Amino acid sequence: MKLRGTMSIDHRGHLLIGGCDTVELARQYGTPLYVIDEAALREKAREYRRAFHHYMPDSEVIYAGKALLTSAICRIIDEEQLSLDVVSGGELYTALAAGFPPERIYFHGNNKSPAELTMAVTKGVGRIVVDNLHELRLLQEIASIHGAEAKILLRITPGIKTNTHAYIQTGQFDSKFGFPLGSEETVAAVEWAARRMPNIRLMGLHCHIGSQVMDLMPFRLAAEHMLRFAAELRARMGLKLAELDLGGGLGIRYHEGDEPPTPAEYAQVICQTVTALCRELGLEVPKIMVEPGRSIVGEAGTTLYTVGAIKDVPNVRRYVAVDGGMADNPRVALYQAVYEACLANKAAEEAAEVVTIAGRCCESGDILVREVMLPPVEPGDILAVFSTGAYNYSMASNYNHLPRPAMVLVYEGKSDVIVERETYEDLIRLDRIPPRLAVSQDCAAGGSKSAAAAR
Ligand SMILES: Cc1ncc(COP(=O)(O)O)c(C=O)c1O
Repeated sequence: MKLRGTMSIDHRGHLLIGGCDTVELARQYGTPLYVIDEAALREKAREYRRAFHHYMPDSEVIYAGKALLTSAICRIIDEEQLSLDVVSGGELYTALAAGFPPERIYFHGNNKSPAELTMAVTKGVGRIVVDNLHELRLLQEIASIHGAEAKILLRITPGIKTNTHAYIQTGQFDSKFGFPLGSEETVAAVEWAARRMPNIRLMGLHCHIGSQVMDLMPFRLAAEHMLRFAAELRARMGLKLAELDLGGGLGIRYHEGDEPPTPAEYAQVICQTVTALCRELGLEVPKIMVEPGRSIVGEAGTTLYTVGAIKDVPNVRRYVAVDGGMADNPRVALYQAVYEACLANKAAEEAAEVVTIAGRCCESGDILVREVMLPPVEPGDILAVFSTGAYNYSMASNYNHLPRPAMVLVYEGKSDVIVERETYEDLIRLDRIPPRLAVSQDCAAGGSKSAAAAR
């Protein structure tokens, strides 16, 4: 088991994160509980900025908020001077409400609504990453109504298939995202955006090849494909593109076999590829942007659960059930993700048995960890699942009407709640009962007959 970020184990054998005892965190705030290691998150953000600025001082690192977005996370990202990528009106609203500067926001999405585009234009979002022709036309119309100029990047699918789960491959031609590279329609769209739309200012191109990518070669290829396309556009229409956004996607360590490249290695490959190829093609080096999400916040997150029922299926397996599961972490059911875990209250004990960690949802597929070696497990133990910072809370649901867990930020021995635990009242807050189904006053005390039935 490899400890992440500021994790350590104290003299009682308890797992500490950010100097806080996770067993105490579980007692104080309840479980399931998302724990975010603030120092680890900030360090990743700094590592990215340092690495890219070392090679290209005018480059920009844009945190992909879809990985994890809360008001406090927006504040940290702003303090670390990263920009922010949002993919919906809801994410944009969250960022703006947290005081994130709109000019450092990039707005993504393959089907932005007119209301969302209007919000982006009127709030002065820095760049809108336009995904398709329909959106391009709509944005021109909206920007014109508001007398605004929308600065855009065009999203291109570079035709690169990455070695990652099919659901998180995005760079191949057969994708719902972006304009396909090499098609005449794409060249026409560039021309429209650059020359024929008075309220649109085309700043550059964007691509994103996928997520949890552990190999640097596809990133290099993507940069090459995009630059060759930029050279083609210059040759065909004399167009100079100032910006190239190469998306996110760098993988992280989920389990023992994972050895992801560091942000420094990633920056080196991207920046050296871009510089060398621009020289070869006679292109001015564009401003380079990258959009990491998972690799900034993923390993900074840990989820704590309390162990409940333990069931032995003789000669098959031991199921250890915890008080959360696919509702707070759908990645296992969705992508067959593999996680590492430990017992936070027995972190120094020798691992003795292989068990299966089962969630509490009414689905056989609700398994959090298929096989993990743990010390002897008992009900009441605290299980810590590692690397849950990205795409856990942001993909969580209320399936089985489970309230979503709280989230705490830990830093130098202090913990602060940054997302409150949902309550049962929250679960029905938006429910409405039409008058004809309302419980009649006569029956309210003694039963549940509706007004209609009572009549
Ligand atoms: C356009 C875009 N940029 C960036 C990201 C972030 O990817 P990751 O979290 O893998 O770095 C995504 C993720 O899906 C994306 O779609």
